[in-house]
Amino acid sequence: MLSGGPGMINHMPAVRRFAAGDGPVAAAIIRGLPDYFTDDVPAKVERDAVSQAWVLTDSETVAGIAVVARKSPGAAEILWIAIHAALRGRGHGTRLLGHVLNCLATAGISLVEAKTLDRSSGYRPYEATRAFWERNGFVHVDTIDPLPGWQPGNPAAIYVAAIRQTR
Ligand SMILES: CC(C)(COP(=O)(O)OP(=O)(O)OC[C@H]1O[C@@H](n2cnc3c(N)ncnc32)[C@H](O)[C@@H]1OP(=O)(O)O)[C@@H](O)C(=O)NCCC(=O)NCCS
Repeated sequence: MLSGGPGMINHMPAVRRFAAGDGPVAAAIIRGLPDYFTDDVPAKVERDAVSQAWVLTDSETVAGIAVVARKSPGAAEILWIAIHAALRGRGHGTRLLGHVLNCLATAGISLVEAKTLDRSSGYRPYEATRAFWERNGFVHVDTIDPLPGWQPGNPAAIYVAAIRQTR
């Protein structure tokens, strides 16, 4: 397929490291997903993104964000991942996550954790989120309720994926 020829607009999504100026658009993406994130999250995402984060761009516009925290020498957590509400379900999340996991594996990480809202909550919007993690190789290993730091009534599903062999 041709892309990037003279006069052509490059619509191919791409993933790059989060840059200082990406904070406001990342926060706007989070604010545009009110069924998924409470009002305090945009500021947390902007703060957490400073240490390790990536953005997915589509037609040069930031369309998604993933924020990672190192948990130990061999483990990391995807703290936040979100795709612009109007662009969900097109493979962007899978592309962004795949890039992040490849980078983490190259950096020597073996296990990656993700915490999300458990099935037992009965909250429909997160059905797609759990399907996303499972489709991308994450395994549900535990449910913790209440999880310290989470508001009561939000059972946490703990997912992990092995991205390198550990034994
Ligand atoms: C979760 C999220 C990052 C996934 O990104 P995405 O670009 O929408 O997802 P993809 O298009 O890559 O979909 C990958 C898989 O996820 C699942 N999935 C995605 N959208 C779905 C939906 N509406 N219903 C059911 N499954 C869905 C499917 O298994 C899909 O694989 P398939 O296309 O082969 O069926 C994105 O939808 C999002 O921002 N959601 C709201 C915020 C959120 O839940 N963040 C994570 C908090 S833990």
